[in-house]
Amino acid sequence: MKILAICGSPRGNKSQTKVLAEEVLKAAQAQGAAVDCVDLSAARIEFCQACETCHRCGDCVHNDDVKTILARMLEADGLILASPVYLSQISAQLKAVLDRSSHFVHCLRLMGKYLAAVTTSGGEDGAEVHAYLRHYANIVGAQYVGSVNAQSPFKPADLAKAAALGQTLMEAIQTKRQYPEQVDDIAAFKQHFRKLITLRKDAWPYEYEYWRDQDWL
Ligand SMILES: Cc1cc2nc3c(=O)[nH]c(=O)nc-3n(C[C@H](O)[C@H](O)[C@H](O)COP(=O)(O)O)c2cc1C
Repeated sequence: MKILAICGSPRGNKSQTKVLAEEVLKAAQAQGAAVDCVDLSAARIEFCQACETCHRCGDCVHNDDVKTILARMLEADGLILASPVYLSQISAQLKAVLDRSSHFVHCLRLMGKYLAAVTTSGGEDGAEVHAYLRHYANIVGAQYVGSVNAQSPFKPADLAKAAALGQTLMEAIQTKRQYPEQVDDIAAFKQHFRKLITLRKDAWPYEYEYWRDQDWL
């Protein structure tokens, strides 16, 4: 069982979000998971150019750290997307990585995986960011297991909530938990992209072939 956390704060080891995400990872590790953490403050991240090369060829024109990060996302069974709340949203660093995963959206590449959200904030409860990350999970085919938000300095209850989230993530993976409402949302996204991929099969041959190989057309 592999769990990957992606931490979107620019503050490196000063990041409180990273501290909270590590609590989630620790709980998953205690249940036997192999855990890993990507700190985006140390990553080379180029912006998506909307060139559609990924849709056409399955590759990206940028040779930066995002390529490896996306590959690691594909290998993980569970993902933790962690971000400070910035103007009621995820950080630009994390958003840039998610934009680069648009092939994952077209091909629901994270189908069967589970995702948890971790935020820290100055005062907000993180609800808008959690709703956004749940949406992200579902459009890439994954199911969202829940979230934790806290403000520094953390109280014991915040750390306990983070640990509980790690356990929930592991249980969801181990039992292949199904969240009926999300299963319906994912099915609706899939139906939408089935139409789009069919319509654009000449423009996006790599993705069309992926859908055909999955026997989804
Ligand atoms: C550019 C910027 C925007 C922020 N916007 C918000 C916000 O909209 N709401 C909020 O509650 N806190 C906001 N904060 C506070 C951070 O979310 C908070 O300090 C967070 O814990 C920082 O996480 P980090 O230690 O992982 O970098 C903002 C901070 C910065 C630097």
